Amino acid sequence: MIKNSKKLSSNDGLIIPKHIGVIMDGNGRWAKKRLLPRKFGHREGAKTFKKIALAGKAMGVEFMTFYAFSTENWKRPKDEVDAIMKLFEDYLDDVSSFEKENIRLIFIGDRSALSENLQKKMKHAEEISKDFDSMTVILAVNYGGQSEICRSVREIARKVKNNELQADDIDERLIEENLDTKEIPPVDLIIRPSGEMRLSNFLIWQSAYAEYYFTDILWPDFKEKDLADAIKSFSERSRRFGGV
Ligand code: FPP
Repeated sequence: MIKNSKKLSSNDGLIIPKHIGVIMDGNGRWAKKRLLPRKFGHREGAKTFKKIALAGKAMGVEFMTFYAFSTENWKRPKDEVDAIMKLFEDYLDDVSSFEKENIRLIFIGDRSALSENLQKKMKHAEEISKDFDSMTVILAVNYGGQSEICRSVREIARKVKNNELQADDIDERLIEENLDTKEIPPVDLIIRPSGEMRLSNFLIWQSAYAEYYFTDILWPDFKEKDLADAIKSFSERSRRFGGV
């Protein structure tokens, strides 16, 4: 993980977070309010995802991670899970959109449980976008922070067993180097809409020094202005990273 979260760019006097994490919550409630099936909320949520990623890019955010499907979300009804997976596939089929925007796409999470077809599309999207450099969008799919840390530790344990490493070599850097986010800087700001105030296993290692922004707006209703408000709030905070 790159240790550069203090190096933030500035935009109209605002301090722009280098890396924003977004928990896209409230799709189900948005649909329920309209007496629609939950999957319609996810469909609107997918549109908001595209809009807010572009808004982040326009404001100079370099990395945005979106929590799209957690390791716990498999507990949902099958038709809802299928609808979310279909949204991922549809998005990846339209490669030209992130090609046009010069956006690099990366996936984090355990892919092994996803369909082969989806895994193939994810890999393809990562490959074709690897040199796109206007911003990096990270999609967390079948992602859980605890699961990610376990996978990192398991990898390190294998190296210790093979005498490639000693137990005393294990430090924060080594754990970070084996996380899915190894090439991505720590999170500066976590945004969670829909009135919930918890992290829900999202980027738990990477957000050790993150600022948090909560709003009651449901994710499908989240607008560019709401992102700007979150960044403004971040900009006004005093971050000391444990110092004084
Ligand atoms: C949480 O809201 C949302 C999810 C579990 C799914 C998020 C997925 C998307 C927004 C689609 C993403 C698509 C692409 C292409 C990236 P919830 O369903 O728990 O809402 P609720 O708390 O109101 O029930």
